[in-house]
Amino acid sequence: MDGTLNIFLTGAAGFIGSNTAEALIRQGHRVVGFDNLVPVYSVAKKRHNLDIVQGLAAGVGQFVFAEGDLGHPEVLRKAMSREPFDAVIHLAAMAGVQPSIADPRLYSAVNIDGTLNVLECARELGIRAVVAASSSSVYGSNTKLPFSESDAVDHPISPYAATKKAGELIAHTYHHLHGLSVANLRFFTVYGPRQRPDLAIYKFTRAMLSGKEITLYGDGSSSRDYTFIDDCVDGILGAMHWTIAGSRSTPRYDIFNLGESQTVSLLELVSILERNLGVTAKRRHADYLPGDVVATFADISRARAALRYDPKVKIEEGLRRFCEWYLREEQGKPWEIQQESAS
Ligand SMILES: NC(=O)c1ccc[n+]([C@@H]2O[C@H](COP(=O)([O-])OP(=O)(O)OC[C@H]3O[C@@H](n4cnc5c(N)ncnc54)[C@H](O)[C@@H]3O)[C@@H](O)[C@H]2O)c1
Repeated sequence: MDGTLNIFLTGAAGFIGSNTAEALIRQGHRVVGFDNLVPVYSVAKKRHNLDIVQGLAAGVGQFVFAEGDLGHPEVLRKAMSREPFDAVIHLAAMAGVQPSIADPRLYSAVNIDGTLNVLECARELGIRAVVAASSSSVYGSNTKLPFSESDAVDHPISPYAATKKAGELIAHTYHHLHGLSVANLRFFTVYGPRQRPDLAIYKFTRAMLSGKEITLYGDGSSSRDYTFIDDCVDGILGAMHWTIAGSRSTPRYDIFNLGESQTVSLLELVSILERNLGVTAKRRHADYLPGDVVATFADISRARAALRYDPKVKIEEGLRRFCEWYLREEQGKPWEIQQESAS
């Protein structure tokens, strides 16, 4: 055994998925990436992500893309049968709070039924290690800060959050009944190169560079624990090794917060972007949106202890790297130009 792992990665064309695929390939592992390229944002952007990953792969077969939908179990099973996989990293989902309020059925179908399909295929095919993406939004309006995995999360305030919590629950069931090792990862607002264009940092950057107004929901004091993509990916790979180790002896199950354990207010975020982009934002304030939480803040001690998770990129440095990437690689791309009015 040369240490090379075979990984089945869902959501491979997306923001976190393509960065995860890149890291796996750089470490010499083999990846089959699965994604349906759903056009919630530019399909050209997703194909570009895949091209970058493919370009890094050494030789034929280190990275294979299988286009398919989580909602078609037979397609999923076929893709998951391509190789004897050591682990599944399940990142594919309908992401985002606001669109889930508009289309809760779609979120339920993809995030709950789709996750069930992944787990069912893993069970059938004997793949015993599963890492699955959850979200800080499961904490809802939790007022106890920082958020700890032992906090009760029984009061989600958006369909998205409820589907992510349901995904955690069904994954636990497969651990209990079928001996799968599972790590549910609660990501805290991930940002960085290849970021989703519907997220605030991207939208603000684009609007500020084109002289448009940005909309700040609330008075600007709301705060987030922003996680730089490289730290998030380190956590995902740590969880992958943790689940694989567990599956060899006794199956493991746990939930891990992956944040930076630092909070930044919306006003501070805009100021840092202004400094990096050399422009002053035109701001407009609006009421908070339903479903949005006022603050997120991760207690990461569990991930530090079990996964050796050690996030390093502070917000100033992370936004500097984000802006550098945006100006160098994203600005002027067809999908960047075509974005709807930014706010
Ligand atoms: N980005 C964040 O800040 C953040 C925060 C918390 C949780 N998450 C979670 O992390 C994961 C990745 O998020 P992201 O930001 O990279 O989003 P993303 O939208 O860029 O990536 C998700 C990918 O899943 C694919 N997908 C969607 N529905 C599918 C289906 N039915 N079948 C197959 N593929 C499908 C999409 O095409 C997309 O490429 C998601 O599970 C999301 O809920 C992200």
